Amino acid sequence: MRIQRQLSILPLFLLAPTLSASITLDCSHIRVDGTSWNLKALGGPHSVSHIVENALDTTNTTYTLDLCKPLKETECKTGTHVCGVERSIDKEGNEKLIGAISIAGNYVQETGRTMDPKVTRLKSIDSEREGLRIELRGGSVPFTKKGRKQQAVIEMICDPERSGLDDEKEETTEKRDERQSGDKEKDVDTSKSLRFKSYGAVDDIDVLRLDWLTKYACEDYKEEEGENTQHWGFFTWLIIIVFLGTSAYLIFGSWLNYNRYGARGWDLLPHGDTIRDIPYLMKDWGRRVVNTVQGPGARGGYSAV
Ligand SMILES: *[C@@H]1O[C@H](CO)[C@@H](O)[C@H](O)[C@H]1NC(C)=O
Repeated sequence: MRIQRQLSILPLFLLAPTLSASITLDCSHIRVDGTSWNLKALGGPHSVSHIVENALDTTNTTYTLDLCKPLKETECKTGTHVCGVERSIDKEGNEKLIGAISIAGNYVQETGRTMDPKVTRLKSIDSEREGLRIELRGGSVPFTKKGRKQQAVIEMICDPERSGLDDEKEETTEKRDERQSGDKEKDVDTSKSLRFKSYGAVDDIDVLRLDWLTKYACEDYKEEEGENTQHWGFFTWLIIIVFLGTSAYLIFGSWLNYNRYGARGWDLLPHGDTIRDIPYLMKDWGRRVVNTVQGPGARGGYSAV
């Protein structure tokens, strides 16, 4: 009986790591089709706003996402990775919060839905494209077990020129605005790394589509070597130089001793005597250390006998 019970528990333990791995995205080790990506640098909250001008007001929907961990400061539910916050701004400029949509995240306790990330290599869909398509799930509107399912589809597109981070994006915007003032809106749009594509119903699911241009999505992108490697390089060179210097000194010294003094054997080496005497010098030094440690007292006692 006891053995049987233990056996029935065992598969649960085996299953646990698989379950936890499938509900979150491991940003630093994304592996698809034998290719690895590290999107860790893109972790943290990133936002893109979609503005719609209506007759009476303006709607500003801001989508915030964190690929690597749940959002901390958010109007959405705890555990949300992709959140949409809708605000209306009237003609006088008064802002009003309309609502927040928890699009993707892990809500095991609340609705039983999980993010269940699905990652596809863009090359496997279209050989001319490079990057990843990340699908995240879990959200509902309203936020109940029966609510309308939500989904985020983020296409991480390889762009070697862009880090994909916000600060750089803002700098680019400013620069471009200085150069050409006309056609501003279009310009601002292309300067952004994270872009809104659409949000709407696909059958019985609402799908948010975003594009994210970044070098981290490139297949040949290698992490820049950190300072550590540079230090290692320096020490390796130092050791090589010291080794070569010592060798050159010994070889040249031996050659000199051979030619000038007709030296042979140990005498060939420069300071041959010293090198030959090293074992004796070490022994002598060791004896002195032992004497110091034992102290004059012990020695005095010994000599008294
Ligand atoms: C939209 O809302 C976001 C977040 O509140 C804000 O940062 C952004 O400036 C707004 N955009 C416009 C055009 O009002």
